[in-house]
Amino acid sequence: MADSPYYLTTPIYYVNDRPHIGHAYTTLACDVLARFQRLDGHDVHFVTGTDEHGQKVEKSAQAAGVDPQAFTDEVSQNFRRLAGEMNYSNDDFIRTTEDRHIRASLAIWKAIKDNGHIYLGSYAGWYAVRDEAFYAESELEENEDGQKVAPTGAEVEWVEEPSYFFNLSEWQQPLLDFYAANPDFIGPETRRNEVVSFVEGGLKDLSISRTSFKWGVPVPDDPDHIMYVWLDALTNYLTAVGYPDEKNPDYSKYWPADLHMVGKDIVRFHAVYWPAFLMAAGLPLPKRVYAHGWLLNRGEKMSKSLGNVVLPEDLVSQYGLDPVRYYLLREVPFGNDGYISHETMVSRINGDLANDLGNLAQRSLSMIAKNCDGAVPEPGTLADDDEKLLAAARDVLDQVRSEFTRQAFHRGMEAIWLVVGDANRYVDAQAPWTLRKTDPVRMETVLYTLAETIRHLAILVQPLMPQSAGAMLDQLAVPGDARSFAHLGSGHALTAGQTLPKPSPVFPRYVDEG
Ligand code: MSP
Repeated sequence: MADSPYYLTTPIYYVNDRPHIGHAYTTLACDVLARFQRLDGHDVHFVTGTDEHGQKVEKSAQAAGVDPQAFTDEVSQNFRRLAGEMNYSNDDFIRTTEDRHIRASLAIWKAIKDNGHIYLGSYAGWYAVRDEAFYAESELEENEDGQKVAPTGAEVEWVEEPSYFFNLSEWQQPLLDFYAANPDFIGPETRRNEVVSFVEGGLKDLSISRTSFKWGVPVPDDPDHIMYVWLDALTNYLTAVGYPDEKNPDYSKYWPADLHMVGKDIVRFHAVYWPAFLMAAGLPLPKRVYAHGWLLNRGEKMSKSLGNVVLPEDLVSQYGLDPVRYYLLREVPFGNDGYISHETMVSRINGDLANDLGNLAQRSLSMIAKNCDGAVPEPGTLADDDEKLLAAARDVLDQVRSEFTRQAFHRGMEAIWLVVGDANRYVDAQAPWTLRKTDPVRMETVLYTLAETIRHLAILVQPLMPQSAGAMLDQLAVPGDARSFAHLGSGHALTAGQTLPKPSPVFPRYVDEG
């Protein structure tokens, strides 16, 4: 639907660490979707940011010997910088230490409390600072040293303190009813099943305040308590559209969110706690939460202690930004865990990009430059093969849309590359270089068909590789305001005779040094 609003969010990142490729991956997927939806005519609001409160950040600040505000001011900048380095097109960058967010957190607490869903008690149990999560004794495991750890492997500590509770146990049935009525609320299917069986297993009331440290939003009317960092953090999705000012035009336009993109490790917070908080506050629920898998470095989890953390800036400087953007979403089926490695990166760059798409464009455009006076050739009557290729290029959007909107990015890309393959087979079969002598009129038709196919492909790959696709469209002299999906199809086809700039390769091969 043209101009319909589309609000999507990334998780907000803990500022205890430098951004690594796992963080870059979540936001990249959102960026590709945000760009796709804009090109498809939606009014997109795309938000990312940083999660700056809680014990984990407080501890990191202490370890760095700075006060938490100065610490978060500095580390938050690393995430802002990443957005520039990765060419993310986010419309807002939210920090949970901002006044607008404190206001929203206080307001949601009050709404939940006024509706009778918060009570004072005391908590005695396990807490994992790394996950900022409470765990029941029965969930704990033992590590190799015989220590009790969270199921995620995080260290746990025993906590006993006064605490406010949210009556999560009362929301079991409403949540199950909601999942049943909204089968697309959680994706992919495997995560949905996990969440449903977790909720079916019964929910305990949730401790939502802490008293043993200070770095957070104080509980309204009881400042000895600090709001549980996840209640504060999840609320950022409302803050970014103007809550608690429900008259804010962004709020009425964009809430409820269309998609919260998250990693599989934080699905419970988004698909159980968050909808329960919202129902308790009397607010509408987001339409979808999608949990993607983890990127593993050659099969191993990335961690500082293993020393195998991959930094986005290192990948970008080695392979180039757009190839990295393409690789990350093409190599690993979105939703699954997957390996990244130098070998698979090089094979994608040299195969899919340099040989397939790059070479298609380069050989077609240089034949046009040489044989058609550097202008869009004049098509004669189209043959069946020409019509077939053009139809494939024009029709693929529907499939890409249906894959991208259910976050199957790799499948959408596969569909586009089927057309790339068709086009390369078409060049070989038509052999325009021989037509040059035997049938120059037919040669022009073939080269026109290729140019028009490349125009479609370049428009379609813009969300993935904005700069490279832009360069391809520049080489076809497609005006900046004629590059959206509304310009796919014959109505906006290239005009014969239009002068084209001199072509140059857009996707260089990667050559290993040494
Ligand atoms: N602050 C919370 C989110 C609050 S949202 C209201 C948080 N932050 S995080 O910085 O630890 O993680 C943010 C995201 O990065 C998560 O979605 C997580 O899954 C993702 N990743 C971190 N490492 C990852 C990989 N190695 N691979 C893929 N994504 C991973 O959780």
